[in-house]
Amino acid sequence: MGERLLDIAQAHGQPLEGTCEGQMACSTCHVIVSSEDFARLPPASEEEEDLLDLAANVTRRSRLACQIWLSEELDGLTVQMPGASHNMQGR
Ligand code: FES
Repeated sequence: MGERLLDIAQAHGQPLEGTCEGQMACSTCHVIVSSEDFARLPPASEEEEDLLDLAANVTRRSRLACQIWLSEELDGLTVQMPGASHNMQGR
């Protein structure tokens, strides 16, 4: 089945919280997938969509990193962490 993007990001010291550890209860693992790669991902489940609705700085290319399983086809997937580009709180 491969590994989840969340686990890989954390293993590489990326500041992705993933507070609920993939139980789809937090949305702190929100990432924005690059436009080239978004279409390569299997579509989000309804549960994931619902949770994304609650996340901050959501875009049309937002996904939960705990729901992305990396397989060989997804090699080289590029994502951005919303916090990294929007780190000015309360602008
Ligand atoms: Fe909580 Fe992904 S880790 S929803």
